Amino acid sequence: MSQFNIAVIPGDGIGTEVIPEGLKVLEAAASKYQVKFNFTHFDWSCETYHRTGRMMPEDGLEQLKKFDAIFLGAVGFPGVPDHISLWGLLLPIRRAFNQYVNLRPVRLFEGIKSPLADKKPGDIDFYVVRENVEGEYSAIGGIQYEGTDDEVVSQQSIFTRKGTDRILKYAFELAQSREKKHLSSATKSNGLFHSMPYWDSRFAAMAKQYPDVKVDQFHIDIFAANLVRMPEFYDVIVGSNLFGDILSDLGPACTGTIAIAPSANINPEKQFPSMFEPVHGSAPDIAGKNIANPIGTIWAAAMMMQHLGHTEMHDTIMNAVETVIKQRDHLTRDMGGNASTQQLGQAIADLITAK
Ligand code: NAD
Ligand code: IPM
Ligand code: MN
Repeated sequence: MSQFNIAVIPGDGIGTEVIPEGLKVLEAAASKYQVKFNFTHFDWSCETYHRTGRMMPEDGLEQLKKFDAIFLGAVGFPGVPDHISLWGLLLPIRRAFNQYVNLRPVRLFEGIKSPLADKKPGDIDFYVVRENVEGEYSAIGGIQYEGTDDEVVSQQSIFTRKGTDRILKYAFELAQSREKKHLSSATKSNGLFHSMPYWDSRFAAMAKQYPDVKVDQFHIDIFAANLVRMPEFYDVIVGSNLFGDILSDLGPACTGTIAIAPSANINPEKQFPSMFEPVHGSAPDIAGKNIANPIGTIWAAAMMMQHLGHTEMHDTIMNAVETVIKQRDHLTRDMGGNASTQQLGQAIADLITAK
């Protein structure tokens, strides 16, 4: 019997609706294998901020450190500025636990129609490997001459050699493990004078160590256009924090709905807990309506099990997800159905326990 201690942070908005479905599916899968979960819930959110002036307690990261993994819903809600809520909870977790890989698979499932004409399952099947702890996401900079006509704001990007090389290495190794062995790098070296040419040079240097991996690079503008025009071209995509963020919403949009996309914030060395969450946010526009799609969260739960060494649980969960999507009887509105969040989660859990 393996036991896992999981920190659960539902967070804000639909985070509190989709996380229970993820837990339901995990329990269903655990009942089939020799696995036991101890879930510890943390109510850290924008409500905590209103109550205490902080998104999480001062020792929040210390509290999370001892868990095997973190399972998170979404952070951010109107009433607290987004940069305050995100820099108060989600981003510090990624950074403190050195979760420098953000792995985001993108796949078109059978039963879902892509908004791109004539695309079928198999045509869209790639990974976005996003740098997750440095780059354009930085609190370095500030405002000068505030309130005057000369007011100026600067925002600094940071690309370290270690940080760049380790994410590129992860992406090359992932590409090498796949059939197509194809890695595409997203930069913007014509406009950004220092950081992006640096990334390109590290990419070119590392490519020499992986001669079996076919490589190419595109500026982010044409990259976005190509992703829509010919998604089948892509296999593994590597990008900086910001570019990876953008491509990992664009990709899932091409697969019908961003709500199915998962996000694994990984510390590959396993010195610290990794964190699993959907790609989407708290969706204030549909919060409380019980129509949120829980599949991004459920897929993230499957990735968590793979990370924890239970590939059979990952596969069982993903088989159930694929079947329920293909049957189309229990889909939420964003996928063209009219099921509730719970009905979709339950259908996946039931399929797992029935088999
Ligand atoms: P969002 O992902 O929350 O929503 C974008 C659109 O997608 C909305 O129309 C929403 O209704 C829809 N959507 C998202 N998830 C869905 C689901 N599971 N089922 C059905 N529809 C879904 O992005 P946003 O509106 O830019 O951000 C809202 C808040 O969430 C902001 O505070 C933002 O900072 C935060 N956010 C947090 C995370 C995170 O915690 N990782 C990610 C993205 C955004
Ligand atoms: C994501 C989100 C976050 C990010 C925001 C909320 C800070 O968009 O996880 O993709 O940009 O990393
Ligand atoms: Mn994002």
